[in-house]
Amino acid sequence: MTTPPASDASTLASAERPGAGRVGTEAARRRTFAVISHPDAGKSTLTEALALHAKVISEAGAVHGKAGRKSTVSDWMEMEKARGISVSSTALQFEYAPDTVGESDTPYVVNLVDTPGHSDFSEDTYRVLTAVDAAVMLIDAAKGLEPQTLKLFQVCRHRGIPVITVINKWDRPGRTPLELLDEISERIGLTPTPLYWPVGIAGDFRGLLERGTDGEATSYVHFTRTAGGAKIAPEEVMDADAALAREGEEWTTATEESQLLSATGQDHDQDEFVAGRTSPVIFASAMLNFGVRQILDTLVALAPAPAARTAVDGSERAVTDPFSAVVFKVQAGMDSAHRDRLAFMRIVSGVFERGMVVTHAQTGKPFATKYALTVFGRERTTVDDAYPGDVVGLVNANALAPGHTLYLDGKVEFPPIPSFAPEFFSILRAESAGKYKQFRKAVDQLDSEGVVQILRNDLRGDASPVMAAVGPMQFEVVAARMKAEYGVEARMESLPYGIARRTDAASADELNRQRGVEVFTRSDGVMLALLSDKWRLQYILKEFPELTLEPLVAGE
Ligand code: G4P
Repeated sequence: MTTPPASDASTLASAERPGAGRVGTEAARRRTFAVISHPDAGKSTLTEALALHAKVISEAGAVHGKAGRKSTVSDWMEMEKARGISVSSTALQFEYAPDTVGESDTPYVVNLVDTPGHSDFSEDTYRVLTAVDAAVMLIDAAKGLEPQTLKLFQVCRHRGIPVITVINKWDRPGRTPLELLDEISERIGLTPTPLYWPVGIAGDFRGLLERGTDGEATSYVHFTRTAGGAKIAPEEVMDADAALAREGEEWTTATEESQLLSATGQDHDQDEFVAGRTSPVIFASAMLNFGVRQILDTLVALAPAPAARTAVDGSERAVTDPFSAVVFKVQAGMDSAHRDRLAFMRIVSGVFERGMVVTHAQTGKPFATKYALTVFGRERTTVDDAYPGDVVGLVNANALAPGHTLYLDGKVEFPPIPSFAPEFFSILRAESAGKYKQFRKAVDQLDSEGVVQILRNDLRGDASPVMAAVGPMQFEVVAARMKAEYGVEARMESLPYGIARRTDAASADELNRQRGVEVFTRSDGVMLALLSDKWRLQYILKEFPELTLEPLVAGE
């Protein structure tokens, strides 16, 4: 593959650029997505299963659960846990060609961007969603929609990210499929449109009925278990008659339910899906590798390819325009020996070539990309070139913060990543007064990187700013980094607030007079009222309707 030198690409008009055709083709075959789920729904198991199906790994180690897994994927999970702080938000890239695609066709390139997992739910988890074009909402068949899934789903909705629903753990007793669909449509107003319907109740997963446009079965895929689910589950594809002969009553039930769905309009419609009003549903068992191929096939067939992005000035940056990218996460301290700092960017347009000197839109300064990496788990691989939809890690990215833009030619700046509604608040102080200068420097730095949001008010003064976060793990990251990078021991004291609302100077005095309320200014200038709980909020909204108390995220 020949790549035109970056300088040539940047001096020619977009239509004439020799790379434009290639960039368009490369972008069209990319699918960039994240999995949104509540802890324990099976995200790591599914990641492994996808990697197995895409032949990135040859065996999934699900036999002994988390502790026993031997793959790269779990090494990385273990590393995260051992360190106790969120160390990675990275992308797994693999090629995938559905069976329907001929050998000679170019496969798709799938980028699975990891949402930092589990207990360390943080602002980073939300920010990852600014880097993807689609999301897989992973639901535990026994538990249905859970809080973290709901929060992440709201971000997807807000950003207009289409969502594919995967109902996992169908090999275990759970709810009925129709009940689960009802929950999705009732609680989040998303119409589920199953593409495959399970044959066999939860706990007796035999296979999947593939639904045609009118709910009729186009085929039946019967799965066979492999030992411990370590290998791809063999599939037997058959027609409806053979399915009936094989599964009897279970098949009849599945076909009836599938027709019922069509009667209520729960059939896939691509426009409705892309508009975020419906969600294709797949039933699966990540552990047994049942339905995993179907998830991949759905992703590549239905999830949108990278598209143009709107800049702050309202112009559109097409994928074939010169190189541009958005930083969505900055990670420090992955390697304590080198104190390195990685900025992850999602490529929006053009081709990225390692070594290119790009412009950092926020400062106007050049940024050399000599050390560009893809990072997954322990693996760090040098990237030579990358295309729209891909995620690249940049080393020594001290000036870069989430939301920043990099570009090669044709100045562009993308809108900043919105800050999300914090729910945890804590005062931050330096243990020793002698370290005040370093303390301030550290606070400013961590604030600009978006590690936490920093709030101040006159009452508390500068020596004890308040940190605001969407997850308490963010505070631990601050403490750890202050110590490691600035030699400052920090003390924290949590504040009894649980809600933040946007307010204004005119409302501040009255709000400050209320019990359980305190007004702050965030470093971006936005005034925030912190309130103890939703009852306090409701009381004030009722008693003082003239005061400004707006949700930070629409629809909250
Ligand atoms: P997470 O990353 O979303 O937190 O979930 P993870 O993959 O770690 O899975 C959480 C638990 O659910 C694991 O069990 C895992 O084996 C199990 N699991 C995941 N997918 C499936 C599935 O399709 N079917 C069934 N039956 N279980 C599934 P664990 O209790 O943590 O470990 P262990 O039971 O494997 O020892």
